[in-house]
Amino acid sequence: MKIKSTLFILTLLAFNSFSQKPTEQWRPAIHFSPKINWTNDPNGLIYINGYYHLFFQHNPKGNEWGNMSWGHAKSKDLLHWEELPVAIPHGKEYIFSGCVVLDKDHVSGLGDPNKPLLIAIYTADYPNTLQEQHLAFSNDEGITWTKYNQNPVLSIQLKDFRDPNIIWHEPSHQYVMSVVKPWEFTVQFYGSKDLLHWNYLSEFGHQGDVDMIWECPSLMELPVEGSKDTKWVFAVSSQGPYKKAVGMQYFVGDFDGKTFTNDAPKEQVNYVDYGRDFYAAIPFYNTVNKEAYWLGWMLSWSYAKEQPTFPYKGQMSLARTLSLVRTSQGLRLKQVLKPDLTKLKPDYEAHNLVLKGSKDLSGMKFLQNKTYVIELKVDATNAKQWGIELGDRAKDNPELTRIGFDEKSQDWFIDRRLSGQIPAPGFDMIQSAPFIPGGDKVLQLVVDRSTLELLAQDGTVAISSLRFPTKKESVRLISMGGELRIKELRIWEIK
Ligand code: FRU
Repeated sequence: MKIKSTLFILTLLAFNSFSQKPTEQWRPAIHFSPKINWTNDPNGLIYINGYYHLFFQHNPKGNEWGNMSWGHAKSKDLLHWEELPVAIPHGKEYIFSGCVVLDKDHVSGLGDPNKPLLIAIYTADYPNTLQEQHLAFSNDEGITWTKYNQNPVLSIQLKDFRDPNIIWHEPSHQYVMSVVKPWEFTVQFYGSKDLLHWNYLSEFGHQGDVDMIWECPSLMELPVEGSKDTKWVFAVSSQGPYKKAVGMQYFVGDFDGKTFTNDAPKEQVNYVDYGRDFYAAIPFYNTVNKEAYWLGWMLSWSYAKEQPTFPYKGQMSLARTLSLVRTSQGLRLKQVLKPDLTKLKPDYEAHNLVLKGSKDLSGMKFLQNKTYVIELKVDATNAKQWGIELGDRAKDNPELTRIGFDEKSQDWFIDRRLSGQIPAPGFDMIQSAPFIPGGDKVLQLVVDRSTLELLAQDGTVAISSLRFPTKKESVRLISMGGELRIKELRIWEIK
């Protein structure tokens, strides 16, 4: 009897997984997602020979976390991605997150001295036992990799010690690695001249948000807008603005080749993004003119398992150029789309509109469940809330996602309470980010099917969020409880 019922359950399960329907309607067009199977963090972001390379945490065998290996994709413009064969497969060890650097001067002595040499340094994870930093090298632009035969290159015999990220630090003429001790909320910095031998430099931590583990650190030197100055930023994945949910935070300060010092009081917390779906972002290596830009994983560990897409799960954000700006609240991170799609000629443009209630934009056929960018510059308003509404207002079963600004609370928001399929409890929430006083009310929204990226106030406010609509949707401008004066409305169709 027992055997029979077990067989029955197994048959049901097998049937279920075969009958799962592809959800291509949710697959974003200009955000990277693997053709099939699971992804989490971006890894080894690097620009070489005209291509942006994205390696990514990947399960080559399934649509859930497991068999962690590095997938690989490349792109000429950061919008169209070509997926390539799995780059670094797991062995006994799982290939966790890490980085890729160009060993320009062949200081490591590995590989073919006559060909460009890429060095990947990543965490080798021996489940529940040990995490140490391993190296692999490639002479063919990241297609094939050889695992170094004298791994590890760095181990402190800890169960949790991971996610190395490396920069070249010109003033001290060395490579500098950031690597975290997640449960201690600290990052350690190591220096090396040859990428093989690493010397301990210092440790930074116990500052900012320390409610959840620290992962995926990175150190960057960013320009301060409106000056010739630069400042150092240390970014780390951790708890975000929502209790017990992951996000990213950053610290602004200095790095002297040995130690990072935070300019702000140690309790101050700066979040990178106020959406639930932006994590594990790391900067690209070897960029032209040292321009800093990154992209992150657009999903949350809180509901990654339940995320309803098939046959893939997980996707990346768009790339964003990074800088610092002086605001009424001090130096803040600014993130601008890369490429900046709003520099193109808009497909629709209107000036000095007055809006009360709502204005349906569905006449523009290209807005229906497609990929586009909308920008709203607002002059004045006595409305309570204003912004953009996506969805279907059907009385019995409305399906709506609202993106905009709340004048009472002075918050930017993405409200996905009624946004369609709710994969897990808690997904149906309002995500909000505080207005930075003094700035203009400019809302820039990328809609790419299931994927929303709100960059407001010239990129000093970000909210990244998924949603899973089940109906055909229309697009409306909304002004609730009063009148809205729109200085400028611009829309770009992304073909
Ligand atoms: C972050 C993370 C990393 C780790 C990887 C494993 O999302 O937990 O710390 O290297 O994912 O897939």
